[in-house]
Formats: sequence, C-alpha cells, structure tokens
Amino acid sequence: MTRPMAGPAQSRGYHMARRKLVYEGKAKILYEGPEPGTLVQYFKDDATAFNAEKKAVIDGKGVLNNRLSEFFMTGLAAIGIPTHFIRRLNMREQLIRQVEIVPLEVIVRNFAAGSMAKRLGMEEGTALPRPIVEFSYKDDALGDPLVPEEYVIAFGWASQQDMDDIVSLALRVNDWMSGVMFGVGIKLVDFKIEVGRVYENDFSRLILADEISPDSCRLWDIETGQKLDKDVFRRDLGNLTDAYTEVAKRLGVLPSNVTHTPTKPTLIN
Ligand SMILES: Nc1ncnc2c1ncn2[C@@H]1O[C@H](COP(=O)(O)OP(=O)(O)OP(=O)(O)O)[C@@H](O)[C@H]1O
Ligand SMILES: [Mg+2]
Repeated sequence: MTRPMAGPAQSRGYHMARRKLVYEGKAKILYEGPEPGTLVQYFKDDATAFNAEKKAVIDGKGVLNNRLSEFFMTGLAAIGIPTHFIRRLNMREQLIRQVEIVPLEVIVRNFAAGSMAKRLGMEEGTALPRPIVEFSYKDDALGDPLVPEEYVIAFGWASQQDMDDIVSLALRVNDWMSGVMFGVGIKLVDFKIEVGRVYENDFSRLILADEISPDSCRLWDIETGQKLDKDVFRRDLGNLTDAYTEVAKRLGVLPSNVTHTPTKPTLIN
C-alpha cells in the first residue's frame, strides 16, 4: 500500500513520533532522550534579547553554542564539577541528564557590565573588588527579576545548603572559565549558569545544567576590548556568528565550514 502524500503537518507528526518534544524555549528545544532521565538538547539559531523584545535568526549560532557548551562542560567535568552533559550527538544536539531546574539564573560578575553597571551607575569594565554572585528569579513574565538569597530560601526555591553549594559551584566555574578564557586572550566579564537537581538513591545533588556559551557570558578581547558575546546582537555591534566563531577558533573547538550548515531541521516528505 502506498502512503498518502504527507503535508507539512503530517510529516512533522511522522517525525515527532520518534522523539517527543518536552520544552521549546527561546534558544533551545528539549526532546525526550533515549533512556529515562535523559533529554536531547537542540540548539536553535534563534537569538533574543531584552526579554524577547528583540529577535533574530542567526545562521550557525546553534552549531557554535552546541560545540562551545560541550567544550566548557567537559572541561568543567574534568576538574570535578558535575554537569548535565553526557555527549554530543550531532552538530546541533547533545544528550543531557534531565534535572529539576532550580528556578534561578545564577550570575557571576568579575567586572561591572550590563544591568549591574546600569543599576549602580558604574562604568562598564570596572573591576569588582571580588567576584559577585547574584540571582534572578526565572520568570519571563516578570523579566527575570533580581532576588536576594533571602527570597530564595523563604519561598522554598532552594535551601540554605543548596545556596551555599550553588555559590561555591558558581565560583569554581568562574575560576576555571576565567583561566581558560584568559589563556586565549579573552576577559570573562560575567556569565550566567543554571543548576538543577538530580536524585541518586535517597540523595539529591545539584549539577550544572542548561548551557555555557557566548549567549550566556560576556567575553571581551583582552587587547582591544572587542565584544565576542551576545552583546554584539543586543547592541548591533556587528556579525554575531563571526564573534562566536572567533571564540570557538581561539579555543580550538571550531568545526570546519560551520557557517555553511543547514540552519533548520529539514522535514522529509
Ligand atoms: N538538564 C536539564 N533538564 C531539564 N531542563 C533543562 C536542563 N537544562 C536546561 N533546561 C531548561 O531547558 C530550557 C532550555 O531552553 P531555552 O534556554 O531556550 O529556554 P529560555 O527561552 O531561555 O526559557 P527559560 O526562561 O525557561 O530558560 C530552559 O528552560 C532550561 O532551564
Ligand atoms: Mg535559557
């Protein structure tokens, strides 16, 4: 029997049968993984800024972020920091451990920039007396508001012990990332991570989740101050793919012909 011609919706359905969508965010899509407790994280080319008020599709961004997040997560794992990363599957996808996300953006700052510089009237690039860890509550409708640790504990988003663990994890990530970036002539100004909970027997622990990429870091060339991160998109400073490619090249993680890869999954009719 011949199958009737599939229209776009049917062919999408045909594909989705193999892989169930779990969540579609602004920059990534999560699918059910091959084993319980795993997910497939797909990196899109979509870029958003200012709480999704500004949007664009940037050719090749997803491929670069998939590679870069793999590079950072495997490096961090090698120094003993637990992460959700299991392995890269292809140009745009990686297999990860499913976690219960702690609903916080954990931000580490070494130099004033972005919202901190604005809030405190500081010049961007001013060195901070020490790394500062801050938290914003993950809620797009509220614009991810900055929250004190006191709120986090009072509202039960995480315990005091969790917060102590999160701060020490964030500072270890900062030290490793700062050193690695310094080694390739880049200053790690600030970055954001997400952490999540995994359960093992009767215990739970917190591991690094989501992504680490130029979407979630501020990276400035040490010599020239040139921005090599998502601010290039936020502030219209040039070609974002070129900036991310530069970071990937310096770190030696550039897949060749990265900008010539298809930007969207293709539907097979
Ligand atoms: N290991 C994981 N297990 C479960 N969820 C995860 C894991 N890693 C990341 N996530 C979540 O997957 C989503 C990734 O998608 P994306 O980053 O595009 O979301 P987003 O548009 O930024 O929205 P959000 O406000 O939910 O982060 C995020 O919600 C993130 O918290
Ligand atoms: Mg996100």
